[in-house]
Amino acid sequence: MSTSSNYTRTAVVLHWILAALLLGQIAFGWFLEEVPRGTPDRTIYVNLHKSTGMTLGVLILFRLYWRLTHPAPALPLSMASWERTGARISHWVLYACMLIMPLSGYIASNFSKWGVNFFNTFKMPPWGVENQAVYDFLNATHVFTSYVFVTVIVLHVLAAIRHLFLRDGIFARMWFPAEAGSAAREPDASTARR
Ligand code: HEM
Ligand code: HEM
Repeated sequence: MSTSSNYTRTAVVLHWILAALLLGQIAFGWFLEEVPRGTPDRTIYVNLHKSTGMTLGVLILFRLYWRLTHPAPALPLSMASWERTGARISHWVLYACMLIMPLSGYIASNFSKWGVNFFNTFKMPPWGVENQAVYDFLNATHVFTSYVFVTVIVLHVLAAIRHLFLRDGIFARMWFPAEAGSAAREPDASTARR
């Protein structure tokens, strides 16, 4: 069984850095929709969005690796079973969206004639053939997943705020332990049901 009721420090740091960066990336995506197509500005901003998105993709892969090797602390039995199920499902939907967003964007780029010009310093020519149907499908996946992602993020944040007010310790699990030496430090990777 887990000896800790907290996430590891690394998981906490990754959660908050990625939360901030992902919200910024989503806002960037919405801003992109305002930039007229076929203009030089569009090329600049789309390439920047692709570059930041791929950088996020690498961070997300690391986060997923960390999560798979460091199980989450078990949720308290004081929570109703539907709440625990809801938390588990929504967390995995968030991970799925975190993966699908950069992957669909990156793969789509390889079925267009543009590929990715990584931060304007490193050209990555497309490895796929130019194929509008495949591009459209992957692009639609990117846009559709962004709606699912935003919806689940809103529910997630509302649930987190509820726990903050309930003061049931759930919010604190995703923060640093108050005192050094408390039981809530880096747990070992072997434990916790979830
Ligand atoms: C975590 C990573 C990413 C997030 C959260 C994200 C988010 C978004 C969002 C919210 C939009 C606007 C969707 C809409 O309402 O129409 C968008 C558009 C777009 N994204 Fe991403 N994106 C990510 C990564 C990428 C990557 C890696 C690429 C390509 C390499 C990419 C390429 C694009 C393109 C080309 C558009 C414009 C689509 C269009 O208007 O046809 N994105 N993205
Ligand atoms: C883009 C935004 C966000 C994403 C993608 C995200 C994603 C996640 C994921 C996947 C988990 C589960 C961690 C795991 O089991 O490995 C989690 C947990 C958590 N998140 Fe977020 N999060 C975001 C923003 C926020 C915000 C803004 C808050 C606070 C208002 C928040 C509060 C929490 C808390 C308290 C937990 C711990 C829940 C528990 O103990 O089971 N998150 N988040």
